[in-house]
Amino acid sequence: MKNISIDKTIVLVGMMGCGKSAIGKRLATKLSLPFKDLDHVISANENMSVSKIFARKGESYFREQELVVINEILAGDPCVLATGGGAFMNPKIREAIAEKGISLWIHAEFDVLLERVSRKKTRPLLENGDKSEILRKLMDERYPIYQQSDIKVTSTDSPHSLVIKDIVEALK
Ligand code: S3P
Repeated sequence: MKNISIDKTIVLVGMMGCGKSAIGKRLATKLSLPFKDLDHVISANENMSVSKIFARKGESYFREQELVVINEILAGDPCVLATGGGAFMNPKIREAIAEKGISLWIHAEFDVLLERVSRKKTRPLLENGDKSEILRKLMDERYPIYQQSDIKVTSTDSPHSLVIKDIVEALK
């Protein structure tokens, strides 16, 4: 896109299942920016899946890696960055994004999230109990914090292209 110039990394924030990776990839293409996914970078660095990192090294190790890796990415050229749902809960990560990036919350309703996360078993936080209860609890804790994002858009069951249109409008 020629009529919109982005000089900061756009950091996608939001719950598991809100569409950060899928929307992020398409947004990056639209803005001619590289796309990065924080979970994938951590996974590649560790040479194991996020579930395995949680199981073998613990959640707190994973959270430390989120901070280290996001600082590295924010120090580089602008890109579109999808983060895992818990990353923005770390105040140090929020500070780093406020300084060097633009935070963009992809808000989604409970039913939409539950339907999407129920399809996969790749999310360790949802594997130890009732997905619906855990999701509800995490939403209650996280939404007031996600609310601090620079931009908020809502993802529904409608095609991602509509959310991307809203994001581009908001970035303008
Ligand atoms: C997490 C979300 C996951 C991943 C990890 C923890 C969370 O990413 O970072 O399983 O705390 O919400 P997605 O939001 O991409 O599923």
